[in-house]
Amino acid sequence: KNRVVFYGEVHGRTLSCAGLGDEVVMRASALARSNIALVKYWGKRDATLNLPAAGSISMTLDGLETRTTVEFGPWERDSVFINDEALEGKGLAKISKFLDLVRPGTLCADVRSTNSFPTAAGLASSASGFAALALAASQAAGLELTPQELSVLARRGSGSAARSIVGGFAIWHEGQKSDGTDSFAEELVPAEHWDLRCVVLVTRKGPKDVPSTEGMNHTMETSPFYAEWLNTVRRDMDGAKEAVFEKDFVRLAEISEGSCLAMHASAMAARPAVIYWNARTLELIHEVRRLRVQGKACFFTIDAGPHVKVFTTAEDLDGVKAYFQDHPSVEDLLVAKPGQGAELL
Ligand code: ADP
Ligand code: DP6
Ligand code: CO
Repeated sequence: KNRVVFYGEVHGRTLSCAGLGDEVVMRASALARSNIALVKYWGKRDATLNLPAAGSISMTLDGLETRTTVEFGPWERDSVFINDEALEGKGLAKISKFLDLVRPGTLCADVRSTNSFPTAAGLASSASGFAALALAASQAAGLELTPQELSVLARRGSGSAARSIVGGFAIWHEGQKSDGTDSFAEELVPAEHWDLRCVVLVTRKGPKDVPSTEGMNHTMETSPFYAEWLNTVRRDMDGAKEAVFEKDFVRLAEISEGSCLAMHASAMAARPAVIYWNARTLELIHEVRRLRVQGKACFFTIDAGPHVKVFTTAEDLDGVKAYFQDHPSVEDLLVAKPGQGAELL
């Protein structure tokens, strides 16, 4: 049942692993990790190609993982399971449309994926999810993509996924070309360069109310602060890059908190407002600022969700963890160090 016979050409090339008539199993598995932006991506200049309005910089998160297996076969429709739950409707259509980019001929896909952390909650499951899917699906289809091509492909599923192809600290280039081939992520420095830690403070269980795509499109269309938000990104990119190269924690803290707050300010000024924070989010922002006054190396960042991610050094990790472990605003606490890029299993 698991073996399909597939003859001939895939994407204009004859499959290298098989001559005509050989039996080919078009299946592959991949692992990718989530990432957290230090300079945020918030808005698209092209929704079809998923081209960003500006560049962004992130750290890949070890331990927040998606594992995905893709198999192509002569089935009637794609089937996709995330954490053993079958996708239907819009959720399935989104994955099928993505698979069309690599699908061999008219074959359909069987996709099985698991996330080791909450899905669609504001912890960038779309990043690890589409990075793992891009790698597994392209490999299953017999394509051998370069890391840049893989990042471009992952980007089509979700912008932040472009960065999860890469390990350590990643820069996603805004790009100039209208076909999007120069808007990919690259490694700035590998995971080993800087032993930072990210303490994820989960403030609430369950998915967020406004998906990232909707939140950023609405902000772009209606926020009077949107243009100014983009200006902050263009000012912050070089500084963040330098801070990462030089391991300058204080500088990265200033830029990263500023980028996070400017992004959220632009969303809050949209009409109607997009507010991802809850009361706990704000409480934890203040706690991080208090902890910093007490001398701990720490700064916060928040994606499109209510959770607070606290960056700290390996040295101050225990102190930061102890401070938040039993905090009444914290439902769950995860710790991640810089992770590797996407890999085949
Ligand atoms: P998040 O903050 O988790 O990234 P988003 O709203 O950006 O939230 O994205 C959630 C979407 O990401 C899901 O609706 C689904 O389309 C996609 N996604 C999540 N996990 C996976 C996965 N393992 N494989 C493929 N797609 C996934
Ligand atoms: C706030 O990459 O999830 O996390 O491209 O529409 O799928 P789509 O959006 P997504 O948005 C991420 C937004 C963010 C900031 C960031 O990760 O840079
Ligand atoms: Co996302």
